[in-house]
Amino acid sequence: MDPYTKHHQNRKNSLFYLLLVLAAAHLLSRKLYLDGDETVRVKKVADLPLRFRSDGTFKILQVADMHYGIGKVTRCRDVLSSEFDFCSDLNTTQFLERIIRAENPDFIAFTGDNIFGSSTPDAAESLSKAFGPAMESGIPWAAVLGNHDHESSMNREELMSFMSLMDYSVSQINPSFDGLTRTTKGGVTTKIDGFGNYNIKVYGAPGSTMANSSILNLFFLDSGGRAFYQGFRTYEGIRESQLNWLQGQKQDPLNPSEDIPLGKPPALAFFHIPIPEIPQLWYKKIVGQFQEAVACPRVNSGALKTFVSMGDVKAVFMGHDHTNDFCGNLDGIWFCYGGGFGYHAYGKPGWPRRARIIMAELKKGKNSWMGVERIKTWKRLDDKKLIKIDEQILWDQRLSR
Ligand SMILES: *[C@@H]1O[C@H](CO)[C@@H](O)[C@H](O)[C@H]1NC(C)=O
Ligand SMILES: *[C@@H]1O[C@H](CO)[C@@H](O)[C@H](O)[C@H]1NC(C)=O
Repeated sequence: MDPYTKHHQNRKNSLFYLLLVLAAAHLLSRKLYLDGDETVRVKKVADLPLRFRSDGTFKILQVADMHYGIGKVTRCRDVLSSEFDFCSDLNTTQFLERIIRAENPDFIAFTGDNIFGSSTPDAAESLSKAFGPAMESGIPWAAVLGNHDHESSMNREELMSFMSLMDYSVSQINPSFDGLTRTTKGGVTTKIDGFGNYNIKVYGAPGSTMANSSILNLFFLDSGGRAFYQGFRTYEGIRESQLNWLQGQKQDPLNPSEDIPLGKPPALAFFHIPIPEIPQLWYKKIVGQFQEAVACPRVNSGALKTFVSMGDVKAVFMGHDHTNDFCGNLDGIWFCYGGGFGYHAYGKPGWPRRARIIMAELKKGKNSWMGVERIKTWKRLDDKKLIKIDEQILWDQRLSR
């Protein structure tokens, strides 16, 4: 590309983004300023950085596969026939509101297929409804894409851009600075596959020795959509460029922490489509249920190998296979499904929709909270009592090394 064309291209990209931002702001404001208020609506932003509470905990709610359509008229799938007539997307909304109230998480991670593209003509409207309870809660949240989000009026880049502009969202389109990615004037990054690859850093408890250090990384990855490989329908999965970026992630260089071996705090990863090794867990001891074949890519890009070599990734949280809700261990790393959350998503009649909770706990130092000591998880079912099941420890610093 000659310099002129390149410059031109950049300008075109900038313009595209500006229009997108304006369109997103307009769509978001449409519902919220009906009273003719002239104020320009800006995104309500989360308090950053994210940090542990002063009780030494940080709790994450994982929501997998909401499959949101357009709301009240979108019917439920795979519920008991006695439940069918009074069931819609609003039950998904209600479940999200209830679980937020019950668990009061510090952060919400949506692991894709947030909306079911083919059930909505307007992706923006669908996203606004799907994430509505998260935005109203004021709790910081982040999302990645699944393989169905883009089957409506927005492509993957537009979806991630829109989601990054929603209230209290800390979602990002892609990393904005990095050795491997180039940032152009319009904020468009190149050289990394997919949209929605980013790292959210969680800082230590307020007032503690670790207050100014990032002590937990949350990696979000775009596991892509559908693909064809040697004539077979398959999934894209995580690609090499994304793994290369991931390996370059380090602790904030300004705040190296003596408490963390190799200066790398523990990390959790979130994405939609399981990696190709997950079927092996059929033969291993798992916590939870393995009820359907794993729908994973045919091509192995080496994600497991990368996670193992990084050493800091302690657990991975996925979605995609709604009736699998187990955690299983591969080479020392836990891989956990969220279990299907949404009522318009396929499921199993009589097997309640569910959500996963992840809680990180800090080590108590002499006079202050230190780095992360333990990571636990459990699930809650969408029944009358939001029953808690399958609690387990995923990582304990005292038992590792
Ligand atoms: C869906 O929500 C309605 C209204 O709150 C409720 O009556 C119904 O039992 C719910 N259905 C399911 C399957 O949870
Ligand atoms: C963290 O930064 C704040 C503001 O710069 C400072 O007042 C505080 O002493 C720092 N805490 C630690 C443990 O370094």
